[in-house]
Amino acid sequence: MYENITLIGGRGHPALAKEIADYLGVPLATVELTDFPDGEISVRIEQNIRGCDVFLLQPSGPPVNDNLMELLVLIDACRRASAARITAVIPYFGYARQDRKDAGRVPITSKLVANLLCTAGADRILTVDLHAAQIQGFFDIPVDHLFAAPILDEYFKSLNLDPENMVIVSPDEGSIKRSLQHQENLGGELAIVDKRRSSATETMQANLIGGPLEGKVALIFDDMISTAGSICGAVEVAVEHGASDVYVSATHAVLCGPAEARLSEASISELVVTNSLPLDKIQSLPNMRIVSIAPMLGEAIRRIHRNESISHLFD
Ligand code: R5P
Repeated sequence: MYENITLIGGRGHPALAKEIADYLGVPLATVELTDFPDGEISVRIEQNIRGCDVFLLQPSGPPVNDNLMELLVLIDACRRASAARITAVIPYFGYARQDRKDAGRVPITSKLVANLLCTAGADRILTVDLHAAQIQGFFDIPVDHLFAAPILDEYFKSLNLDPENMVIVSPDEGSIKRSLQHQENLGGELAIVDKRRSSATETMQANLIGGPLEGKVALIFDDMISTAGSICGAVEVAVEHGASDVYVSATHAVLCGPAEARLSEASISELVVTNSLPLDKIQSLPNMRIVSIAPMLGEAIRRIHRNESISHLFD
């Protein structure tokens, strides 16, 4: 059924690559991936991929530059091995927060990354919850942009929380649209935290618009948790405003720097994230629930390979 399909996993997330391969019933291609003594990446695809429809799975999460570079050299290796089509499957797209010039003399690094992927030889991109949907326009090749919201909402529905007693709390104004979508699916009221960023790792949150939260269950959705400053600040605001329980959810658990310590100290009933990034090194978050995006990505790959529509995956 999958004649000519080839799945290749980089070192960025072998477990997710394996899960997708199992979903599709297609073995992962054998690839030798090593580092030269000086840190340069060495790639060798150990099977014939001439004329194949290749899907390369690599999130560009930490170590961001190594994972990105490995993806680029994998694409180059596939192109030079005469693959018919190369799809870069990037469950988490790093550098997405550098999508505009918000100060003088700064780069637009997500555009640069898009250029690098295209120059290396990617024919299409498959990704999940881009920090800014407009990044699709940085590419002149097709970009299939999937959303984890239906999977996360399905999990929250299984908790049988009472919508009458629930408030969806947007952690900042940039997340209002996402929060409204969750509200549409899950019900409840809406509130917005007034977030101001003071540095790359520090945020200030104090005011809450909307609510009320007194005695209610708060659900906070963000696209990513990086240092956890934003989300933990929002949790504090929710607790200060009287929330009885606070659930936190994000598609991308980048969890770098102080994130693990901050999250383990915060008053969070449950932290619900996807496996867009590897989480095997996280030790101190017993309340973390991981939902898998492998079936969604596997289904998208299956449909792309067969030239079928993937729009039902957006529902
Ligand atoms: C901001 O616009 C994003 O949606 C996230 O809220 C933010 O990037 C998360 O970063 P951190 O966890 O470091 O606050």
